[in-house]
Amino acid sequence: MNNKIVETASDAPRASKPGRIIRDPFGRSITYLRVSVTDRCDFRCVYCMSEHMTFLPKADLLTLEEIDRVCSAFVERGVRKLRLTGGEPLVRRGIMNLFSSLSRHLQSGALDEITLTTNGSQLTKFAADLYACGVRRVNVSIDTLDAEKFRTITRWGDLKNVLNGIDAAQAAGLAVKVNAVALKGVNEDEIPELIDWAHGRGMDMTLIEVMPMGDVGEGRLDQYLPLSLVRSRLTSRYSMQDIPDRTGGPARYVRIAETGGRLGFITPLTHNFCESCNRVRLTCTGTLFMCLGQDDAADLRAPMRASESDDLLHAAIDEAILRKPKGHDFVIDRRNQQPAVGRHMSVTGG
Ligand code: 5AD
Ligand code: SF4
Repeated sequence: MNNKIVETASDAPRASKPGRIIRDPFGRSITYLRVSVTDRCDFRCVYCMSEHMTFLPKADLLTLEEIDRVCSAFVERGVRKLRLTGGEPLVRRGIMNLFSSLSRHLQSGALDEITLTTNGSQLTKFAADLYACGVRRVNVSIDTLDAEKFRTITRWGDLKNVLNGIDAAQAAGLAVKVNAVALKGVNEDEIPELIDWAHGRGMDMTLIEVMPMGDVGEGRLDQYLPLSLVRSRLTSRYSMQDIPDRTGGPARYVRIAETGGRLGFITPLTHNFCESCNRVRLTCTGTLFMCLGQDDAADLRAPMRASESDDLLHAAIDEAILRKPKGHDFVIDRRNQQPAVGRHMSVTGG
């Protein structure tokens, strides 16, 4: 082991002590880790990927054991909630082994929750196993109930298969939340129908504004539909009451009187949600992003691989959290019509 590095780490003013809660320079506690377990996906959504994506060589990925190790280090440091994302997390081979091994942190009480964000394509296969591993909630992305439109948006997806996946999830006892990206001229007229459908099935729904991430081969502003506009349109149809519910994520919720259901709004461009950010994101190659909308990152793979003990890993986590920025820069870059960050959502996870 390289003594010098260890010494530097343990002498640093914020040297890591496992068990200590991580706080960033703005006083925000980091209690939520989102982990992209693969950059691959069986869909090619138009706002997320280009049709011909180049994926990372498999050799660059963290092994499932390494993902477990980083997650566990964060759990030791006070993270209470893990969300596995992708790409599509359920297309990673052996992924249920990771869920199964992480479930020990639920059993010990160290974690409150393990959730996942999925496109739903594999849920018929995995819903029951997920439940058995302690997963109780899943987010399923579905932007339209029109099969043809669904194919256009996802390029490769099959709506029926996803709907069967949602059935399987609910049958297995998983609470399903529907995520829909609001797309100008594509699904904007269908949003009330989506809400009625989701709430009618006892599912919360969250609307997401298109975020300028990665080159997807089409004009980003063509897709951009501000949720402030969607919301004001919805008020002519529904009575919506602001509710303080937070699910640990950035959504702001309303209760819709007519349906009784909850509707969330994730509005990174029209509303800055950074002040209460409790999250960091780990990519499938072991890079930690302290903010979805910034390029600054820290490599955790090298410190993890450099030593069998987790000291270097904890020191790298400490050092990274100190650099967590106050907020993102999406708005500025919208003006320039450039992606605010070069990487795709599928690299960091949504
Ligand atoms: N802007 C907004 N939402 C996106 N998603 C993927 N890419 C983008 C983007 N550029 C959504 C997916 C999914 C969630 C993980 O993020 O539809 O619901
Ligand atoms: Fe896959 Fe989700 Fe990206 Fe669509 S948005 S291509 S389902 S990762």
